Amino acid sequence: MDLVQHASAVRLRAHAPYSGFQVGAAIRGASGGVHLGCNVENVAYPQGTCAEAGAIAAMVAAGETRIAEVCVIADSPAPVPPCGGCRQKLSEFAGPEVRVIMATTRGKTLTMTMAELLPGAFTAAHMERP
Ligand code: THU
Repeated sequence: MDLVQHASAVRLRAHAPYSGFQVGAAIRGASGGVHLGCNVENVAYPQGTCAEAGAIAAMVAAGETRIAEVCVIADSPAPVPPCGGCRQKLSEFAGPEVRVIMATTRGKTLTMTMAELLPGAFTAAHMERP
C-alpha cells in the first residue's frame, strides 16, 4: 500500500458525527514505518482532534520522531491542506523539504513541501539567546 492508500483506509475510521467530514492522515517516518490517524470529534466541539494530530501521536508512541512524508485525504472538491495548527505540529518533526500529499477520495492530489505550507515557521532556533 502506498501512503495515499494508507490514509484512505484509516479515514474510514474517523469519528466525525458533527461535521460529517472524515479525514485520514498517514505519516511515513524516517525509518520507513507508516503511522496513521483520523479525526476524532467530540460533542464538546473544541476537544476534537485532527487526523494529522492522531498520526503524529501514533508516530511518537511508536518511538519515531522524524517525518519523511505525509498524506492527508478527505472527500472534498479540492485537496484539503492541513489546518494552521497541524502545520505547526507537523513542523515539529518534519523539515522544510518534507512533502505533504493532499488527496481527495475522488483521485485529485496536490503535493507541497512543509516550507511552502508553513513559511517562516517558528522553530527552536528562535528561542536561542542572542
Ligand atoms: N480536519 C482534519 O482532521 N484535518 C485537517 O487538515 C482539516 C480538518 C478535521 C477537523 C474536524 O474534525 C473536521 O475536519 C472539520 O473541520
